[in-house]
Amino acid sequence: MELNIKKIKEQAFEEIEEIKSSEEWQEIRNKYFSRKSGELAKLIKDVKEVSDDLKPKFGTLVNQVKEEIGSALDQKWAELEKDQSKNLDKDFIDVTLNIDKYKLGHLHPMTQIQTELEDIFKSMGFMILDGPELESDYYNFEALNIPSWHPARDAQDTFYVEELPNSGKEKLVLRTHTSPVQVRAMQKYGAPLRCVVPGRVFRNEATDASHDHTFYQLEGLMIDKDISIANLVAVMKEMLSAIFKQEVKVRLRPGYFPFVEPGFELDFGCLICQGNGCSVCKQTGWIEFVGSGMVHPNVLKYGGIDPDKWSGFAFGLGTTRLVMMKYSIDDIRLLQSGDLRFLNQF
Ligand code: PHE
Repeated sequence: MELNIKKIKEQAFEEIEEIKSSEEWQEIRNKYFSRKSGELAKLIKDVKEVSDDLKPKFGTLVNQVKEEIGSALDQKWAELEKDQSKNLDKDFIDVTLNIDKYKLGHLHPMTQIQTELEDIFKSMGFMILDGPELESDYYNFEALNIPSWHPARDAQDTFYVEELPNSGKEKLVLRTHTSPVQVRAMQKYGAPLRCVVPGRVFRNEATDASHDHTFYQLEGLMIDKDISIANLVAVMKEMLSAIFKQEVKVRLRPGYFPFVEPGFELDFGCLICQGNGCSVCKQTGWIEFVGSGMVHPNVLKYGGIDPDKWSGFAFGLGTTRLVMMKYSIDDIRLLQSGDLRFLNQF
């Protein structure tokens, strides 16, 4: 019996020494202290079997061993707790650390330029207006002095929307330019009037590096007493200098648009070669980008404005062209591609 008690004590001490985790600790504790099947309970049962004169001796011995094993277990528990807090230190997570931020998106380069242009024109007292992309044939052509037989219609072929038979509805087209909003604005606000209209326009075009079926324009219209071409040139210069952050030269060439008279193509001095000639300006020193002119009296009339009292200028610039120029983009199709490798550069 005595030998057995000693054996169990030694075994318990060895096993306690080996404990590495609280789970193992619990297991060993149960192995020795479980009331029913624990090793110590078995020893107590054995004590009951021995003769009465030996009972006190073995009883005391078993109790002693029980206490020794108990305190060894307590000590082990304290060690485990200490190790655990050391590990906690090691696993410390700094919640204030600046880890990878969410990747935020940003405005498309077209939108960036558009907002910039809006700010420039707002500072000159222009309203920012909007118009329908699905436009009536009337506003897109008729009211701009382009009747159905007019050859200028061929220059702006578009996508016609099929009418329902006998619907009595107006003929609809995808607008080919932002100019229809000129007449809409005149009808709504009358004279005097200063507005710009940024927006998406469509042409029935075969696409290539410099043509797309969908692109962006910004229309401008200023109507007042005694407005002349000088006002147009001043506004254009102001806008270009603000966009390119430097003095920009402009020149006018005669241009034909049925809704202005006289009409001009407005060019600005190439900023890449400073007018000396390069591949971007096709060796001319000038970049062509705005159609403009004095609003045709017929168009003023369509807009309900008396051409004998008021005059105005109008212009339509290709915002897409401007973005391409500003960032040296050599393929227009990239702008509508949604390709993140391209867009993330802005
Ligand atoms: N709407 C014309 C175009 O798209 C440009 C333009 C606007 C010309 C206003 C003159 C006046 O080509």
